[in-house]
Amino acid sequence: MTKPSVLVTRRWPAAVEAQLAESYNAVLNTGDKPMSPSEIRDALKRYDAVLPTVTDTLNAEALDVTGAQTKILANYGVGYSHICEPAARDLGMTVTNTPDVLSECTADIAMTLLLMVARRAGEGERELRSGNWTGWRPTHLVGTKVSGKTLGIVGYGRIGQEMARRAHHGFGMDILVYNRSKVAKDVLARCNATQVEEIDDLLPQCDFVSLHCPGGVANRHLINSRRLSLMKPDAFLINTARGEVIDEWALIQALMFDMIGGAALDVFDGEPRISPDLLQCDNLVMLPHLGSATREAREAMGFRVLDNLSDFFAGRAPRDRVI
Ligand code: DGY
Repeated sequence: MTKPSVLVTRRWPAAVEAQLAESYNAVLNTGDKPMSPSEIRDALKRYDAVLPTVTDTLNAEALDVTGAQTKILANYGVGYSHICEPAARDLGMTVTNTPDVLSECTADIAMTLLLMVARRAGEGERELRSGNWTGWRPTHLVGTKVSGKTLGIVGYGRIGQEMARRAHHGFGMDILVYNRSKVAKDVLARCNATQVEEIDDLLPQCDFVSLHCPGGVANRHLINSRRLSLMKPDAFLINTARGEVIDEWALIQALMFDMIGGAALDVFDGEPRISPDLLQCDNLVMLPHLGSATREAREAMGFRVLDNLSDFFAGRAPRDRVI
C-alpha cells in the first residue's frame, strides 16, 4: 500500500522528522524557509496531508483551492488562528492541533515574563551589558514584589490553569479568572481561584494580568485602550497567547505615558515584525515567541501530530481534532 504524502512546512525536531520520513512519503522543509500562501495553496493540491504551524498563513485566500488533495491540516502547535476556519470547513478538511504537551512550558515562560517585568530584569541586563552599571545602591532598579499579589488570568484553559498553579502554589498569589464559559468548581478550587463574569470586572482588581485565550477574530484587540485604562496604574500585562489579542498601538500609549506599570510579551501582532515604538519602551520585556521552546515540548508536539495523522489515515477520529 502506498504511504500517504505529507508536506511539513518548517524544520521539526530531528526525532520527529525521522519518524515522519519512515511512516509517510514525507517532504521536509530542510531549508526552514517560511512558505508563501501561494506555495501552500500549491501544496494543498498535491499532498494528502499538510503539516503547518503558526508561521504559515492559511487564510481564506490560501485555502481558495479547487480540487484540493489535502484532507487533513495537522497543525504543529496548539493555536490555530492562522487557519481560516470557515474556508477549511468548506473544503471538508480535518484540522488538528497539539494541546496539553506544551502547557507547562508555556506557563513557565509566562511566569518568567511576569517575574522579569516585575523585577526589571530586562532593564538590569541591558544596563549591565552596555557597561552602565555603577554598582549596588538602595534606589537602584527597584521593582515590584510578586509574592502575595493578585493575578488575573484571561482564558482558563490548560495553559491558564498551569499559570495559576505556578503563581498560587509557588508565589502565594490570589487568582482571579475570566473565561468565556463557566469553569468547574473543582478546577477553580485547585488554586483557590475566583471566576468573574466580565473581563472589565477583573482588570481593576489585579496587580498582574496574564493572557491565555485563543487569538483570531473573536479576540482581536480584546485588550484595547479602554480596557488598559481599567488596569491599576502600577499593574503589569503579560501576553503569551497571540499578538492580535492586544491593540499594540494602545499598549504603546499606555507604556509611554505610564498608564500601567509595564508589560511583557512573547507574541506580537504581525510577528516577527516588531513595532519600532515597542523597542522604545523601557517598561516592556519582549521574548521571540519562546512559549513552547523546550526540547521536551517541541518533540512532544511533533509526536502528537504523528498520533493525529496515524489516527486519521487509519480511519479513526484524531484525538485533537478542532475542525
Ligand atoms: C502554539 O502552540 O500555538 C504556540 O504559539 C507555538 O508553540
